[in-house]
Amino acid sequence: TPLKELKDGLLSITSADEITDVAGSKLDENETVSITVVGASGDLAKKKIFPALFALYYEDCLPKHFTVFGYARSKMTDAELRTMVSRTLTCRIDKRENCNEKMEQFLARCFYHSGQYDSEDNFTELDKKLNEHEGGRVSNRLFYLSIPPNIFINVVKCASRSASSSNGWTRVIVEKPFGRDSESSAALTRGLKEYLVEDQIFRIDHYLGKELVENLSVLRFSNLIFEPLWSRQYIRNVQFIFSEDFGTEGRGGYFDSYGIIRDIMQNHLLQILALFAMETPVSLDAEDIRNEKVKVLRSMKPLQLDNVVIGQYKSHTRGGVKYPAYTDDETVPKDSLTPTFAAAALFIDNARWDGVPFLMKAGKALHTRRAEIRVQFRHVPGNLYNRSLGMDLDRATNELVIRVQPDEAIYLKINNKVPGLGMRLDRSNLNLHYAARYSKEIPDAYERLLLDAIEGERRLFIRSDELDAAWSLFTPLLKELEEKKTIPEYYPYGSRGPVGAHYLAARYNVRWG
Ligand code: NDP
Ligand code: BG6
Repeated sequence: TPLKELKDGLLSITSADEITDVAGSKLDENETVSITVVGASGDLAKKKIFPALFALYYEDCLPKHFTVFGYARSKMTDAELRTMVSRTLTCRIDKRENCNEKMEQFLARCFYHSGQYDSEDNFTELDKKLNEHEGGRVSNRLFYLSIPPNIFINVVKCASRSASSSNGWTRVIVEKPFGRDSESSAALTRGLKEYLVEDQIFRIDHYLGKELVENLSVLRFSNLIFEPLWSRQYIRNVQFIFSEDFGTEGRGGYFDSYGIIRDIMQNHLLQILALFAMETPVSLDAEDIRNEKVKVLRSMKPLQLDNVVIGQYKSHTRGGVKYPAYTDDETVPKDSLTPTFAAAALFIDNARWDGVPFLMKAGKALHTRRAEIRVQFRHVPGNLYNRSLGMDLDRATNELVIRVQPDEAIYLKINNKVPGLGMRLDRSNLNLHYAARYSKEIPDAYERLLLDAIEGERRLFIRSDELDAAWSLFTPLLKELEEKKTIPEYYPYGSRGPVGAHYLAARYNVRWG
């Protein structure tokens, strides 16, 4: 992969038109990979995992010998699994090409085994089938746990005892949520470690597989101009914003026992923050990167209730259409206080970031869908170009925006002279707009992460000490919110969220971007 080339010092900087991806697998001809998707009948498997595996196959990134097995309790034949999977496969990678032939080849490698999640006998049957397909080669086995967390341990127990590889590696990808707080997360880790060693556990946070999140380190550490500015000396505040323009539709049952803080902030946004704020790692090795992330997380203070605002969406009628309230979902109790929105101010107690507010905002059913990092720089000292030249000083500071999605872009807001004989300034963007710059489609996060798991690359997966550090920051707050039964601020579906988020930001002289 390009990362490996970078490590070996082989990656050359090319113009966008010259870039070609390095495809092909690193596995030996004699090796096989069997990927078992546990919970194959579920939403995530259909929506993300099978399509990502197909994309990897299409791009020639999977090893020559591979098999995909679906495993779940639902009764299905191989043919029925293939029909189900085929509905969500697309030719999005190269829209001009008719990929039906490739799809058929891929589907022919997909099989299904129905079984219980706590039955060693059922996993022994799976093992038998896997062996048949592996045909005596070195067998490597990847289990993707796309199931509710309360059955993770049962599955890991049965898979490790009855279906692990006898002569290759066995790895397990675990989907979030990794617990609800420090205690339950530690219990989950202890449970997994009864049957697996840490190196076998790949805890997925799919935001780490997003192109612009991965690019964050490249931006910081390979461009001289950013790193010297990356501190309290020049940065006024940093914002991590996640917003969806739809509610919890279809996932209300899961969401109600987690809420937005556990669903988005404690993992996706905090992971981005750690990558943003960490010190330069010793190397690009997974352990070096994860060591730095843990260090920065451990330098943070646990969240304080008075630095947090929570909200929940209520129904709203617009253009004759009635949008539901969160509690209109049948699987959500009518008196639920679960937050669907939260804003928080966090601080990092180290020399680089002392006093800089790191603001997070995450919400469902807001007016727009976006995920962004916004870095607001300090005022230019003794600014020559003051208000009389048409500048609103408060708005005239530089801002670097990393738009993770949609329409990926990195842009820097600068002040610029409006061309002409007079002297008037305006705000302009130095803009790296991905769609305009790169013709190739950006891979889905799950493609990158699945490929990394197959290749044993761990840098984009969460280590257990990172997880502990992350939960330590949020657990006291979550407990306090729940013990005090804090009432969320209600906001209309499709709005900008609770006004409290603006007061919170204003307390730190911040205007949300
Ligand atoms: P589902 O609720 O669709 O569950 C997946 C499968 O697990 C089901 O098809 C079902 O298969 C089995 N299952 C469901 N509930 C139970 C239960 N109570 N006991 C035993 N088996 C059960 O989950 P998703 O596919 O949505 O998600 C899978 C995992 O990924 C979850 O941990 C989820 O939190 C996480 N996740 C999901 C995302 C998404 O967008 N869907 C996003 C990020 C994370 P069967 O009945 O056939 O055995
Ligand atoms: C998941 C959350 O982890 O991420 C969902 O559980 C959320 O609630 C989803 O909708 C967002 O992912 P993406 O990639 O669509 O931004």
